[in-house]
Amino acid sequence: MRTNQPRTIYLSEYQVPAFLVDHVDLRFELFEDGARVHSTLSIRRNPEFPDQGEALVLDGDSLVLESVQMNGEAVPENDYQLKGEQLVVPGVPDRFELTVVTWIEPQNNTRLEGLYKSSGMFCTQCEAEGFRCITFFPDRPDVMARFRTRIEADRAAYPVLLSNGNDVDRGELADGRHFVTWEDPFPKPCYLFALVAGDLVEKRDTFHTCSGRDIDLRIYVESRNAQKCDHAMDSLKRSMRWDEEVYGREYDLDIFMIVAVDDFNMGAMENKGLNIFNSSCVLASPDTATDAAFQRIEAIVAHEYFHNWSGNRVTCRDWFQLSLKEGFTVFRDAEFSADMGSPTVKRIEDATLMRTAQFAEDAGPMAHPVRPASYMEISNFYTLTIYEKGAEVVRMIHTLLGPELFRKGSDLYFERHDGQAVTTDDFVRAMEDASGRDLSQFRRWYEQAGTPVLDVSDEYDADKGVYRLKVQQRIPDTPGQTDKQPQHIPFALGLLGADGADLSLALADSDTEAPVSRVLELTDTEHTFEFHGLAERPVPSLLRGFSAPVRVHYPWTRDQLMFLASHDSDGFNRWDAGQRLAVDVIQALEGQADDGEVDARLIDAYRQLLNDATLDQALVAKMLNLPSLAYLIELAEEADVQALHRAREKVLTTLAETLREDLLACYHRNDDSGDYQLTPEAIARRSLRNTALAWLLHIDDAEACDLARVQFDRASNMTDQMGALRALVNSGFAAERGEVLDGFYQRWQDDPQVVEQWFSVQAASTEAGHLGKIRALLTHPAFEWTNPNKVRSVIGAFAGQNLSEFHQDDASGYRFLAEQVRRLDDLNPQIAARLVAPLTRWRKFAPVYREGMKTALEMIRDKDGLSRDVYEVVHKSLAGS
Ligand code: PHE
Ligand code: ZN
Repeated sequence: MRTNQPRTIYLSEYQVPAFLVDHVDLRFELFEDGARVHSTLSIRRNPEFPDQGEALVLDGDSLVLESVQMNGEAVPENDYQLKGEQLVVPGVPDRFELTVVTWIEPQNNTRLEGLYKSSGMFCTQCEAEGFRCITFFPDRPDVMARFRTRIEADRAAYPVLLSNGNDVDRGELADGRHFVTWEDPFPKPCYLFALVAGDLVEKRDTFHTCSGRDIDLRIYVESRNAQKCDHAMDSLKRSMRWDEEVYGREYDLDIFMIVAVDDFNMGAMENKGLNIFNSSCVLASPDTATDAAFQRIEAIVAHEYFHNWSGNRVTCRDWFQLSLKEGFTVFRDAEFSADMGSPTVKRIEDATLMRTAQFAEDAGPMAHPVRPASYMEISNFYTLTIYEKGAEVVRMIHTLLGPELFRKGSDLYFERHDGQAVTTDDFVRAMEDASGRDLSQFRRWYEQAGTPVLDVSDEYDADKGVYRLKVQQRIPDTPGQTDKQPQHIPFALGLLGADGADLSLALADSDTEAPVSRVLELTDTEHTFEFHGLAERPVPSLLRGFSAPVRVHYPWTRDQLMFLASHDSDGFNRWDAGQRLAVDVIQALEGQADDGEVDARLIDAYRQLLNDATLDQALVAKMLNLPSLAYLIELAEEADVQALHRAREKVLTTLAETLREDLLACYHRNDDSGDYQLTPEAIARRSLRNTALAWLLHIDDAEACDLARVQFDRASNMTDQMGALRALVNSGFAAERGEVLDGFYQRWQDDPQVVEQWFSVQAASTEAGHLGKIRALLTHPAFEWTNPNKVRSVIGAFAGQNLSEFHQDDASGYRFLAEQVRRLDDLNPQIAARLVAPLTRWRKFAPVYREGMKTALEMIRDKDGLSRDVYEVVHKSLAGS
C-alpha cells in the first residue's frame, strides 16, 4: 500500500539486467503462522551491462528479512540496505552465491500474489511481479534461472507437495513433517515459478507424444471435486495433440500437472509443468457446468498448455512485450477451439468480445497499444488489448502470409529464440524472415493504440461493368497519441449478385480466373479498388470473417442487410448483417416515443431464422441474439443508456409477442432428452431452446412459465437448468422467481462454482438485480470478500452486465461500485482495479450519467492509501478533467 504517487515505467528506459542468476535453490518451511523461505542464488555480473561496478539490487515486497549470507558467510547489516522494498548489496564480486532468508505470512495474503493460502492449501501466483512477495530476487522476465525447490510441511495436513519440473527427492522429517524436492531442468523467469502444498487427490492419465515419449498427466483437486476432472483431462490431451499437429510442438518435461484453487485473481496460470487454475476454469460435470463453461475450460486448458512454447520456452524480455506470449497464445487457443467446434461460431464470439469490450477499451482513457510504451502497475495491463487485439494482430499476420508461410515463421521463431526472453519485434522479424514479406508498416499495429475506422463508399459504372470501392482509413486519437500513420490492414471481401451468389472479383478485365473472395491489403489512407466484368451492381460483403479489428462504415440499406443476412456465403458476415440490421432498428427507435414501430423486415428475418431447420443451427442460435446493450452503448456517440435499453426492450418484446408460436415450436423442436453431448449441434439445440424460453418469459408468457418450471425441475444438465433459471429470474413472475432461486440454492449450496452462477444470474438480472437486492447478496452467507470469483459474480456482474440497473440517473449504482472498490482495495488491489473499468468511460455517456460516474471516480481517488493498481486506473480516467 502506498500514499505517494506511483512511478511510471517506460519501455524506452529498458536496460539489460546488471546481474544474471544461473541457479536458484529454494527451501520452503511451511507453517500455519507463516513460512520461512531460504533462497540461495548463484549470481554473476551480466557482461553486457554497462557499469560493471553496479550494486546488486533485488526486488522484494512485504518480506521480513531474517538473514543475508554471501558465499556461506553472514553479511553484516551495515553491508546491505533495505531501500523501499528492495534489498541493495553494494560492492559485490563478479560471481557469488547469495543466501537470503525471509519470513512471509501466506495465511494473511489476501492480494493473492506470491505465496498464499486458499481453502487450506498453499499455492502461488507469481506473474507478473509476485515472486518478489516470496523472496528477494531480480523479478523481471529476462532473468532466467534453473530452479530447485524443497518444500517442507506437515505431512497430515499437506500430503501433496508440488513445484515445477520433476520430483527428485522426498522423505520424512521430525514432528510429523515431510519434504519433497523438485528440480526444473529448464531455465525460466521467476514469474513461472509455482508451489502447491495441500490435501489433494490426484487424477492421472498418460499422453503419448509424437516422438514416442509417455507424459504423466496429473490433475490435483480437493477430494470433493474428484469427479469433475474428466473434461479438463480430455481437453489437455486434445491440446497436446493439436500443438504437435498444427505447430509441430512437443511437450518437453515428463510430468504435466494442473491444480485447481478456489481463490485466484485470473483464469489460470501457465507455471512451467505446474499450471494453477481458478477452480471455475477447470472443474466441470454436465450437471454443474454449462456449455459455455465446458467450452471455456477447454479453451483455457489449451491456452495454458500452449504457453509452454509460446511464453515459457520463448518468453518475454520485459512486460511491455506481454502480448508476445498472450496475443500469440490467444490466437493459438482460438484456432484450437475453432477446430474442436464450429469455426464460425467461435469467430462470432471473439469478434463480439472485440467489438463490445476491446473497442470500448481502445476508445477510453486506458487505451494503450498492443505493445504499451509505459505503465504504472503492470497488473493493469492484462487487458483485452494485450490478449484479444494482440491475437487479432497475429491472426492478421496469418492471413497475410497464409498458413504455410505462417507455420514456417512460427517454426523459425521457436527455433531461433528457444530459451530466450524476446520482444514482439523478434516475433515479427521471424515471420518476415521466413516469408520474405515486409511487415515494417504492419508493426504499427503494435505501436499505435485505437481502433482504425474504415469509411467505405462505392459506385457502379453500368456501361463499363465496373464497380469501384473506395476505402479510407483513419485512426482516432488516444491518450498520448495523435496524428497516427495508416496501418497495414488485410481487408477480406466478397460481392454478391442479385441471386445471392458470390461474383468473381476481377481487378482487371484480363483477370478471368478471379476468386470470389479476396483479401485486399490496405496500406494508404485511401484506396480505390476497381472490379471488372460485373453485369449488375453488387452488394458488398465487407471485412469477411472479421479479417481485421477495425470498424467498417458503409451505408447498407436495411434491404441489403436482409439480403446479406440470408445469402452471404461467409457465415460470419451473415451474422454481422443481422446484427447491423438489428442495431439500425434499435437505434432508430431510440429517439422515438413509445409508438415507434419495429420494422417488419426485422421480424420477418427472425421468423425465417426460427423456422428454417435447413440452416446451420449453430449459426442460427448466434443470429437470434440481439445486439447487447453493452454493444449499443459502445456504438453510441453519447450513450443514453436508459433510452437504448428501452428501445432494445421494445424490439425484444415485439419479436417475442409476434413470434410467440414460432418460439414455442422452436422450443419443442429442440427438446433433447438424450445423453449430454458437447457437439456444436447439441450446443446449438440447447441454445435455441433456451433463447426461445427466455424470449417468451420476457413477455411473461404463462405457458412458457410452466415450461420453464418443468425444465428447471427435470433438467439433466446445468445448461438447461440454468437456462430455465435465468429465464424465470428475468421474468415478471416474482413468486416463481423466488421459488426457483431458493430451490437452486438449496440444491447447490455446497458447490462454490454453481453458487457463483447463482449469484451472477441474479446480479445480472434487470428484474432481480435492483441495487437493494445486490446489497443483500453481499451479506449472503455464501458471499466472501476474499474470493475473487464471488466478488466478480456479484459486483462485477452487476456493474458489467446489468447495465440498465447500474446506470441510474441518481448515480446510486456508481456510488455503490465506488464503495465496494474502496473496500476491496485494501484486500485485493488487482481485483479492485479491474472493477473500476465500468466507470472509466464516463466521458462517453449522456450528461445525466457522466457527472455521477466522475464523482464516483473521485470518491475512489480520495481514499487513503490507495493501491498503485487503482491509483493508475482512476487517475488516468480523470486526467484532463
Ligand atoms: N498468464 C496468465 C494467462 O495465461 C494470466 C495471468 C496473469 C494469471 C497474471 C495470473 C496472473 O493468461
Ligand atoms: Zn495467457
